[in-house]
Amino acid sequence: MHVYIEDIGKHEGEEITVKGWLYNKRSSGKVRFVLIRDGTGIVQSVVAKGDNDDKTFDAADRISQESSIILRGTVRKDERAPGGYEIVATDIEVLQLAQDYPITPKEHSIEYLLPLRHLWLRSKKQNAILRIRHELIKACRDFFDNRGFINTDTPILTPASVEGTTTLFPVDYYGDKVYLAQSGQLYNEATIGALGKVYCFGPTFRAEKSKTRRHLTEFWMLEPEVAFLDLDGVMDLAEDMTVFIVEQILNKKMTELETLERDITKLKKVKKPFPRITYKEAVTIIQEKCKDFKYGDDFGAPHETVISESHEKPVFVHHFPAGVKAFYMKRDPGDDSLSLSVDMIGPEGIGELMGGGQREDDYDTLLKRIKERKLPEDAYQWYLDLRKYGTCPHSGFGLGIERTIAWICGINHVRETIAFPRMLEKVYP
Ligand code: 4AD
Ligand code: MG
Repeated sequence: MHVYIEDIGKHEGEEITVKGWLYNKRSSGKVRFVLIRDGTGIVQSVVAKGDNDDKTFDAADRISQESSIILRGTVRKDERAPGGYEIVATDIEVLQLAQDYPITPKEHSIEYLLPLRHLWLRSKKQNAILRIRHELIKACRDFFDNRGFINTDTPILTPASVEGTTTLFPVDYYGDKVYLAQSGQLYNEATIGALGKVYCFGPTFRAEKSKTRRHLTEFWMLEPEVAFLDLDGVMDLAEDMTVFIVEQILNKKMTELETLERDITKLKKVKKPFPRITYKEAVTIIQEKCKDFKYGDDFGAPHETVISESHEKPVFVHHFPAGVKAFYMKRDPGDDSLSLSVDMIGPEGIGELMGGGQREDDYDTLLKRIKERKLPEDAYQWYLDLRKYGTCPHSGFGLGIERTIAWICGINHVRETIAFPRMLEKVYP
């Protein structure tokens, strides 16, 4: 019977078949220890000379790293074996003998590994990250589904910018110029009119011109939007969501966190409430470390890092100057120079995990903002319509999935949080 390695403990004493790839092997006298992986786990199999026909022992000797194999044998409990079980092999069928697999068990540099990403994904650590990614995305969706949000898919090909015009990827659309979506937000603002509370989850694109450990050109964003919600409501929602995600990963992905050697005491501190500080208060904290930072400047990576390292939990920074935020942000009714915006800065130096706020809901003001920023009015007619037919206060945010994974996994760079990262000058494989 074909059994996946993750289920092997349920088959003690039984004859089973495992299908996978050779992860590693070692020999000791007349015994060969074969480590086989099948994507769900790694198990050790023992092949002893004399116990089997010579063919099986020869196969164990011959198979090389990443050869595809079908192995039959009996499951035996063994405390010393990794995972607590091993297979006493009776037969090894070699499907393909892999020659000179380029990623040997020794350490390799990132420069070497990145072009081999299609193979690098097979390693233990990368496997753990992708499994956490899967669980994290599921947790995000569950959180909103449980609260009655409707998932609406927003378009990838779009006529207009959301987050500024400098990071747009143009696409030729039958002779017209359109752009890859930077965010699904504007469309969410339309679907809330139909459904009340919605989210979209999908790939978003930004032609980022700089190489940093936080930027991809193609990344995935989870974006909720809610009618009749204000800025405080956004922070409440993001806080609840973040706590839920971390809990789910701690509950379900301990093995993977251990593989990544993640210090989980840090994750266990992610409990409500998260600190909420104004941009103005954040400036004071930043200026202690970064002398040339001025009030009114947007945060760059070093400034986010200062905020990030100043707390053990994610921190909300709200009320940014309107000038550093997008055209759609509602202004603070008490101070027109400020926007009802918020960023959530993750702990441990990870930087901004999410951005959002309350949207401008007045037709004339929004039109004025579009004109001020010299955005093409025609492309936003439908968006302005939303302020003509039953406008209401509304808010939402976008959570960057890759940065959230990097934080939870405790890895330094977002490039390892997605199977095939897209970065400036890197679109292979
Ligand atoms: O702060 P941003 O630009 O916000 C928006 O796009 C809003 N329209 C979202 C909304 O309100 N619905 O992006 C949101 C998050 C950031 O906080 C960051 O985590 C992530 O998306 N992000 C990136 N992640 C990886 N690479 C990039 N180039 C990213 N740009 C933004
Ligand atoms: Mg932002």
